[in-house]
Parts: sequence; C-alpha cells; structure tokens
Amino acid sequence: MKKGKIKAVRGSLLWFTGNPFVTAQSDCVTYEEDGLLIIQDGHIQASGPAASLLPALDRDVTVEHYPDHIIMPGFIDAHTHYAQMQIIGAYGKQLLDWLNDYTFIAEQAFDDGAHAAAMADFFCQELLRRGTTTAAVYCTVHPQSVDALFEAATQRNMRMIGGKVMMDRNAPDALLDTPQLAYDQSKALIERWHEKGRNHYALTPRFAPCCSMEQLDMAGKVRGEFDRLYVQSHLSENEAEVNWAGELFPDRSGYLDVYNHHGLTGQYSLYGHAIHLTAAEWQDVRDRGTGIVHCPTSNLFLGSGLFNLGAAMGGPDPVNLSIGTDVGAGTSLSMLTTLGEAYKVAHLKGYSLNAFQAFYLATLGGARALSLDHLIGSLDVGKEADFIVLDKRSTPLMAKRMDRVSSIEEALFVLMTMGDDRAIAATYIFGQKCYARAEG
Ligand code: GUN
Ligand code: ZN
Repeated sequence: MKKGKIKAVRGSLLWFTGNPFVTAQSDCVTYEEDGLLIIQDGHIQASGPAASLLPALDRDVTVEHYPDHIIMPGFIDAHTHYAQMQIIGAYGKQLLDWLNDYTFIAEQAFDDGAHAAAMADFFCQELLRRGTTTAAVYCTVHPQSVDALFEAATQRNMRMIGGKVMMDRNAPDALLDTPQLAYDQSKALIERWHEKGRNHYALTPRFAPCCSMEQLDMAGKVRGEFDRLYVQSHLSENEAEVNWAGELFPDRSGYLDVYNHHGLTGQYSLYGHAIHLTAAEWQDVRDRGTGIVHCPTSNLFLGSGLFNLGAAMGGPDPVNLSIGTDVGAGTSLSMLTTLGEAYKVAHLKGYSLNAFQAFYLATLGGARALSLDHLIGSLDVGKEADFIVLDKRSTPLMAKRMDRVSSIEEALFVLMTMGDDRAIAATYIFGQKCYARAEG
C-alpha cells in the first residue's frame, strides 16, 4: 500500500512507558522538552528530541510548532454516560434517589433516535474539546442510542467503547428490557459495531440492583460468544446500594461476588466506583485483574464516599485502575478537572497522588486497563497518533502560577489543579487535527 504523507508536530513531549505507582519515575516517564512527533498514516513514526529528528526530515514536511506547550497522549475517560449530560448538577440526592428522580427520566428521551444522534454528536465534540480521545460510554437501554454513539465516534474516527444498558427491574417500565431482548439487541449491536473501525462493544448491565439473575446470566452468555467484548457496570458506590444488592442476591457472598458468579469480571471488565469494597474484595479484584474505574467528581457530588487509592495502588501489586468522569453524576467531562479532584479525594484518605501518577491513569494506565495499550496511551513508535496539545498558560492566573514552576512535574500538577477545557489547545485523532481551541 502506498504510504501517506508525513506530518510532524513539535513541542514538549511527555508520555509514560511504565507505571509510576510501582516503578521509579525516572524509569517510566519520557519527557523531551523540545521534542518532535513524526506521524504517517495515523501512526507515530518517530518521537524524540527535535534536534536529532529535524535534520533527517524531508524539506517538504510541514512542522506544526507549539512552543511552550506539552504534547501528550489523548486522555482516556473509562466511565461516562453520554445520555446524562443534561442532568449534570441535579441537586440534593444520593445515588438511588438521584437515579429515580433525574437519571431515569432523562434517559427515557433516548427512545427518540434523533435526540440520541444530536446528543452523541455534541458529546463527541465536547470530549475532543477536553482532550479526551477515547471513552468507555454507557448508552441507554435503547439500541438506537448505541447506533448514535458509534456513528458520531466513527465520523471523527475516535477509538470508542460503548454499549446498550441492560436493565430488567427496579426502574420505570419505559426503560426496562427483558433478558431475551437484552440478549438479542446486544448481539445485533455487537455484530454491527464491535471491532468495526475503531469501535468496541461493552456489555453494559447497569448495576446488579437493576438486573435479574437471568439478565446477568444473559450478559455472561453473550460475553462467551465473542472475543474481547468489554463489560462495564457499577460496583459498591453507595452504602444503601451495597445493602440493597445484598438483599437482592442473598446467595452471593457480597456485591462483587454477584458479578464474579455470572462471569462478568477479569480482563476487559470495567467497574465504576468500588468505594465500599472489603479487604477480601480488593484481593479478589487483584487476583482476577478486574478493572476498577475511579470517578472522583461523581463520588463527591453524590456524597457516595472517598475512594481508597492507597488500598488500590499503595502496595507492590496495584489494581487494574483507570479514571472516569461518570457524567452526569460526575460534574465535569474534563479529565484535567477529574485528576485534580482525584488528588483531593486521595489526600482525604491519606494518600498523596502525584502528577505523574495522575496523568498515567488518564493515559497509559487507562489504555492498559482497557487492554488497548498496544494501540493507544503513549507516544511510542507504532502507536496510533491520538494526542493532545496542552497550554500551560491557558488563563492569566495559570500563567502567573507557571512563572514560579521549576519542573515538568510541577507544571503538570498545576495543570491538573487549575486546568480545564481552556488548557486544551488542540486534539489530534489518528494524526488528524480534530479540534483546535479558538484563539482570542
Ligand atoms: N449506578 C447505576 N446506574 C448508575 C448511574 O447512571 N450513575 C451512577 N453514578 N451510578 C449508577
Ligand atoms: Zn456511572
């Protein structure tokens, strides 16, 4: 096949090659203050010091130069609900009331395919504006909500994970399916979208309290019929929810055991929250490699509790952890804001999340949790060129703060504390600039 045109982007390059929760930082962070990224056919062909790569570059290659900006892999939001954007900041309720009073009402509107398409299109654009290039997304119970998401992602060539919510009890009738309907609809969607282009399907049983045992059996059955299907759900988010799950599944030893029993854990699984896990459940999550997604803005907003980052990542055997916005319980689609809140939550639990660890979770750590690190999450040669350009001085106050910063780690920490969508100067998908911040 004929090779495509080469392009190059210059700036400070930063990416991870190892896990800073367990490896010395000097061995897992690559930083080139004046670096060059060379891209061909959507992939990274070279990444390294500009001084050594520029002389070998053909003269006709245009170099986009971002002086004083940081170029890093695009962010990975491992847990979000695109159908909940219009209920961000819904006042006054904890999880179970919040679901009944706001969420289940908003999600019913996605029965209308045109509404779903408009929301999915807006959602993908908002992700790019915040530097998120891949997300694991809950749609609604309606198959058309899944088509809408993957159509919007495909238009932008984003690597996207999503699936139809499966729920057959404890919600309004208009949002319920049945085990058989969930099986048939999920299978049809998998055949239409899974590993087509850059799309991946996630079986999405909403959470154990909304699923009968037959429904969870169906999810496990479909999982066995396809390779590399994801499973995404919620786990131990809120104390009342944990107690309710115990009452609904009296034969299981705990909440996590419900999902284990139905074959819904291990690699390719993503469980949001995991705030109220027992020590035995933490060990089980480690042993099976079950993915846990920390969603700090959501946990604060719903008053769910404080994620125990030290229990997850503090020892020599870290959990398969990623980080997510969980909009609309989460209050922001910005992964920068989410990292800043993760720092504060960890701080309240006696663990100090440093900037390298935080940005690792949003890039390579997320890619590893999704088993996609052979494709995305770093700027290594051969990886897909999904990357972002961060402006360290995106507001007057941040610029003043940066005047006193003396290392890249400090600059990153300020970015996650003060940064938001204004700090994203550009977002590239598969080597193409898909978003550029309006200047002015
Ligand atoms: N548990 C079950 N459904 C949901 C949801 O939509 N959001 C959150 N945060 N938790 C849930
Ligand atoms: Zn969620």
